[in-house]
Amino acid sequence: MLPTDAASARRVAGTYDTAEAAVERERTLALLAARPGERVLVVGSGPGQLLSELADVVGPGVHGIDPDPVMVTLARRRCHTRAVVEQRALHGPGSLPDGPFDAVACLQVLEFLPDPGPAPAELRRVLRPGGRLLVLDTDWTSLHWPGPGQDRHHRIRDAWCSTVPRPRLPHELGPMLRAAGFTDEWSERAPMRGPASHGYGATLREMVAAAAPGRCGLSRADVDAWAAAVAACGDEPFSVDRWFLGATAA
Ligand SMILES: C[S@@+](CC[C@H](N)C(=O)[O-])C[C@H]1O[C@@H](n2cnc3c(N)ncnc32)[C@H](O)[C@@H]1O
Repeated sequence: MLPTDAASARRVAGTYDTAEAAVERERTLALLAARPGERVLVVGSGPGQLLSELADVVGPGVHGIDPDPVMVTLARRRCHTRAVVEQRALHGPGSLPDGPFDAVACLQVLEFLPDPGPAPAELRRVLRPGGRLLVLDTDWTSLHWPGPGQDRHHRIRDAWCSTVPRPRLPHELGPMLRAAGFTDEWSERAPMRGPASHGYGATLREMVAAAAPGRCGLSRADVDAWAAAVAACGDEPFSVDRWFLGATAA
């Protein structure tokens, strides 16, 4: 679910205006527990909703980075002078702003990186000792859609998972964080659940439908028929498990 062009960037950005995303952000803010005067970095700040809500709490020490120019423009427009927003990407050593930060949030980014291996060490580098890391990633293998035809749902899910470099990253991150110098990790399941026909469910369905044709033996017609059947389910819910993972910089 990383943007590949301006149109997909706007589609991804739209998912963060939904009610489901607002609920998740509320939990994010509670878990991050940022205090006034802290320096907080948001890696992959997207359209900037979290930056803006953090700036309300923390004051001027909020910093966001995102490599996508559409996301950077949207975030700057939303935050004005209340947060620094830079166009840059997390990858290897030295890729993040130096900090030191009291807290770093990296939400829905690591699972999409072609190689997330070097990321934890770079996240650790920019935190002060005792600083807090909060990560959110999805276990895409848990994706459930309403409607008939389990076999078709499973093929669609597998097709989507084949587009995500690490579709089960939440279950692999613990050892990666420990190896990078984090301690006291914890995790919390954060199910994303809502109507399949509108809100976040509709946006996710569109993204899955755009990516699935040609994968797992699925034709464009198969995928269109699946998308129409899911849309017809109205308020019946889709669901997928996300996981918050937190840790402290040693
Ligand atoms: C699925 S969106 C999540 C947006 C935001 N973190 C949230 O949860 O509201 C992923 C974001 O990560 C950004 N991104 C992609 N590659 C990145 C990288 N290497 N470093 C930092 N951000 C990246 C994308 O441009 C996009 O804005």
